[in-house]
Amino acid sequence: MDKATFDAQYQTYLQAVEDYLRGLFTAKTDYDQIFTAMRYSLLAGGKRIRPILTLEFARLCGLDWHKALPVGCALELVHTYSLIHDDLPCMDDDDLRRGKPTSHKQFGETLAILAGDALQPAAFELILSAVDLRDTARANCALILAKAAGADGMVGGQVLDTLCHATTQDQLAQVHRLKTGALLMAACQLGCAAADGDELQLNCAKIYGENLGMAFQIRDDVLDVVGDEADFGKPIGSDEACGKTTYVNLLGIDGCAQAVERCTVTACDAVATWGDDGFLQCLAKSLAGRNH
Ligand code: IPE
Ligand code: IPE
Ligand code: MG
Ligand code: MG
Ligand code: MG
Repeated sequence: MDKATFDAQYQTYLQAVEDYLRGLFTAKTDYDQIFTAMRYSLLAGGKRIRPILTLEFARLCGLDWHKALPVGCALELVHTYSLIHDDLPCMDDDDLRRGKPTSHKQFGETLAILAGDALQPAAFELILSAVDLRDTARANCALILAKAAGADGMVGGQVLDTLCHATTQDQLAQVHRLKTGALLMAACQLGCAAADGDELQLNCAKIYGENLGMAFQIRDDVLDVVGDEADFGKPIGSDEACGKTTYVNLLGIDGCAQAVERCTVTACDAVATWGDDGFLQCLAKSLAGRNH
């Protein structure tokens, strides 16, 4: 797939995701400062790669991708909650997210925590009320998201990242697999599940997602050192300030680039037999060299 075709498809998915998210949490109530806080973080302009992966895998498995929007956006809600909580003073203590003050800087810790809390059940509500999907697809999607977001997934990774000082490459790989890989893997599998995809498709999605996730977090650690705050949209040097050992400490910048390259090749190989895998190949390659 050439770059112009990839960019056009990405923009089409991105626009659909933004439109869908903009329609959420608009009610006027006595307690609607919670909706203001939820929308502040949700609509701050993330890359939306998780829902976009869901939409593309749904398409590859034969579903009209528009029908997978509630599922992909549900994952974006969970991802956004994870970022709000990740930035709290008790976690990474960061002041900038998606180019704006973090939720707790803008609204205070109480509302930031509650906005994260509220985004989680809202995600499952979106999946369970996705009327265009079969009952089995909705149930499978809810299960995939629950497992990926919970203690054996993203939250487990955050426990290791914040409370246990990982120092070896094996330990760091486990942190990355859980805190970042779990949701990226789920992004891919959710698309297959929304389309009632088969085991073979789910397995290809799993391998692609877990390798993309590893590459993605290593690149994130690199950008935390050599990135530009205006491009990255979050503070540079956060990991060092928190006293974290990252892949950059273990492998150096060049070693990280090689590791990202290896994971990207493995991810691309996993979907190569699919045919029509051009978008996934371009996406993996563009993320490997991303600056934001
Ligand atoms: C940030 O994820 C958290 C990590 C897993 C490194 P993204 O880089 O996808 O953040 P947004 O959604 O584009 O803001
Ligand atoms: C991301 O790890 C993990 C989650 C948000 C679950 P980071 O702490 O490195 O993410 P950023 O750099 O703050 O986005
Ligand atoms: Mg963190
Ligand atoms: Mg962080
Ligand atoms: Mg980071």
